[in-house]
Amino acid sequence: MHTFYIETVGCQMNVLDSELAGSALLRAGFQQAETLADADVILYNTCSVREHAEDKIYSALGRLKNWKREKPDSVLGVIGCMAQKDQKLVFQRAPHVDFVLGPGRLDILVETVEKLFNEKPRPTKTVCASLHRATNKHTDVLESFRQYNPERTVRDDASPSLVRIMFGCDQFCSYCVVPFVRGPEQSRPPQDIVNEVQHLARQGITAITLIGQTVSSYQHQQARLADLLYQLSNIIGIEHIDFVTNYPKSIDDNLLQAVRDLSQVSKHLHVPAQSGSDAVLKRMNRHYTAAQYREMTNRIYDTVPGATMTSDFIVGFCGETDEDYEQTVDLVKYCRFRNSFIFKYSPRPGTKAAELYVDDIPEEVKKYRNNHLLEIQIEISRQLAANVF
Ligand code: 5AD
Ligand code: SF4
Repeated sequence: MHTFYIETVGCQMNVLDSELAGSALLRAGFQQAETLADADVILYNTCSVREHAEDKIYSALGRLKNWKREKPDSVLGVIGCMAQKDQKLVFQRAPHVDFVLGPGRLDILVETVEKLFNEKPRPTKTVCASLHRATNKHTDVLESFRQYNPERTVRDDASPSLVRIMFGCDQFCSYCVVPFVRGPEQSRPPQDIVNEVQHLARQGITAITLIGQTVSSYQHQQARLADLLYQLSNIIGIEHIDFVTNYPKSIDDNLLQAVRDLSQVSKHLHVPAQSGSDAVLKRMNRHYTAAQYREMTNRIYDTVPGATMTSDFIVGFCGETDEDYEQTVDLVKYCRFRNSFIFKYSPRPGTKAAELYVDDIPEEVKKYRNNHLLEIQIEISRQLAANVF
């Protein structure tokens, strides 16, 4: 009987993938190890959204060298976004890794691990990845990013169950690696989602979080996110529904009315703005202006009584002047976010921004803007919590 341990970094997509991968391994007869050191199989579920995340993962993989030396028959797999992005490069930077498997190939995770234990001689250094979007036919690429949603083993913690409603992303924000590593956008059929949530409800789950890269853009034939929220609210036992991450341009009145009218649906919206400067937003390929973002914010607060918002920002994007940055500060002050997640721009190989623009903002300036914006946000958060507005 082999034991496994899954280490997860990154976003909720990865958290869900780890949960589903763990469930599949349990069903195949593996057991969960108490600690990483005890395991016969270690899976590292990785993130590639910023370089810093990747560096930390490679350091952590480096620390597993001894474990591998002491247990040469064990299996070390790298899964998740960095697996899809780096593929063979993983073996160069961490030669003791046995296999690399992208997020679009989780369907063959269990068989990949089993082969490593069962086949003699042992298959070495296998890469299971989806096709690259830039160099392959769209239908082939789509086929190579498999939808993966097997049954899961229900956890006993109280956090909401994650329910994926969309795979991939087609927005191609110029700085972002996600459309490449998670593949083309695919909304799941509403009936599949309803069935999954009914199943969870029967197992006693009361709170769910719908996840996708751009959930407000969910569309399957005629069904939009608002329709899905109505259907899911009808499921007996489901008391709390929220959804992340939204894309500003697709927050429409139907969605806001559903949020307002459905008592189960959270009145909190996470809508990444990324910048308050039109010039920067344009280079980021975000398809909206700061004025349109403000207008959307007004619509949210006007339509949904008691609504709260959070946002993401990238500071120090290529060519961001002091004036551009000041416009981001103005936007943060205007929108009264409950919280903002602020990131320093990190060029990602293969993205348009890395190709077209120079990463010309010095690290100290990025750091300064990051800390400065955070201070402004903290003050707003404090005032909101104290109900000063
Ligand atoms: N550099 C810095 N931050 C990034 N994000 C995405 N790509 C990058 C990048 N290359 C941030 C965005 C996104 C969040 C999940 O990560 O703000 O909303
Ligand atoms: Fe990345 Fe933009 Fe897609 Fe979000 S919407 S995952 S930032 S490309």
